[in-house]
Amino acid sequence: MTAGIPEPDADAQAHSARLRDVIGEQIIAAGGRMPFWKFMEQSLYAPGLGYYSAGAHKFGAGGDFTTAPERSPLFSQCVAHALAPVLRQLGDLAVFVELGGGSGAFAEACLKSLDATDALPKRYAILEPSADLRQRQQSRLRDALPPDLFERVDWLDGPLAEPWEGVLFANEVIDALPASRFVVRAGRVHEECVALDGEGRFVRAEQPADAMLAAAVRQVEAQLPEPFTDGYRSELLVQLPYWVQAVVGGLRRGALLFIDYGYARSEYYLPERSDGTLRAFRQHRMTADVFAWPGLQDITASVDFTALAEAGVGAGFEFAGYCSQASFLLGSGLAQRLAEAEPRIADEAGRLALHQQVRLLTLPSEMGERFQAMGFQLGVDFDEAFPVGDLSHRL
Ligand SMILES: C[S@@+](CC[C@H](N)C(=O)[O-])C[C@H]1O[C@@H](n2cnc3c(N)ncnc32)[C@H](O)[C@@H]1O
Repeated sequence: MTAGIPEPDADAQAHSARLRDVIGEQIIAAGGRMPFWKFMEQSLYAPGLGYYSAGAHKFGAGGDFTTAPERSPLFSQCVAHALAPVLRQLGDLAVFVELGGGSGAFAEACLKSLDATDALPKRYAILEPSADLRQRQQSRLRDALPPDLFERVDWLDGPLAEPWEGVLFANEVIDALPASRFVVRAGRVHEECVALDGEGRFVRAEQPADAMLAAAVRQVEAQLPEPFTDGYRSELLVQLPYWVQAVVGGLRRGALLFIDYGYARSEYYLPERSDGTLRAFRQHRMTADVFAWPGLQDITASVDFTALAEAGVGAGFEFAGYCSQASFLLGSGLAQRLAEAEPRIADEAGRLALHQQVRLLTLPSEMGERFQAMGFQLGVDFDEAFPVGDLSHRL
């Protein structure tokens, strides 16, 4: 058992053991240690074996975690409502790019909602690195969408390189990007690595950080009220500016919307959060043991929204807004979406379930405050999608 989580079955254990061996061989080949980000990348995305690349069930009640689009179509309807004015401003040639489509739940509800409000994009392109999830998305959307909507959907092998106009949306994708871990020792920045102990188990190790990671940590530290104390450990996405630049590709006009869990920088790197935000999820339980069962558990780190704001602006976009998920959904007509949906539900149990979904999406103790939305615009007005609960003073 890992922190009270039942052991995986024999097949799953064998699968995890194969990935453990692959990572172990890479550690040995690299001279005895690999940077933590590389371990996270392999655990999640090693071809055919990683958590997102292989076929383990991840989403919804029977999976490991439940994302907002899985909890309620109201989430996707609100996002569609917020992005529809941008799609209308762009006209017939607008493209909708979704990063990391998960089970396809978001795309299904979003496309139906855009169709109902006459804001359909010419094309709905999903950039999904996991071959397994791509297949699941294809079969779900083929079954769930009318043929004329399904025809608009395609899957990308990489960002749209040619010039395009449209919107780009990502829910809970940045938290799944492989994060570097650092620790400060005697005033120097070290990188957390993964090594093997005498029995071949993964253990933490450290090495002096390379110039890039050290500079990134120092840049963060310079913006904090106090320097990091000795032994302070946390995460950082060194590649975030390059990643944002890459995923927008040739976007010439349009909007970006990211929803994820995280904090503004000053809260992310609080002195008391001295072991970072890294955690793993399996069967709806959280564990700090990110080494347990590689390939069978999700590994995530919270998003530094200040870093995201810098990356978006650095990629040439204008900052459009930053607020909690609750504020974003309320500002995007959650009450109206609820009022529209309720009369279509015949039984009391169904109506209660719908209200429960609203609570899960918006209550501070659920997803309402931990999850936040950040938008960017280029040649369009998207700041109107952030009418309430502005948090940009925290950045
Ligand atoms: C936690 S899931 C969220 C899925 C979905 N957006 C949802 O809300 O249900 C993370 C998703 O991001 C995808 N992903 C990971 N790295 C990515 C990248 N670099 N570009 C695009 N998608 C990525 C994963 O394969 C997975 O579909």
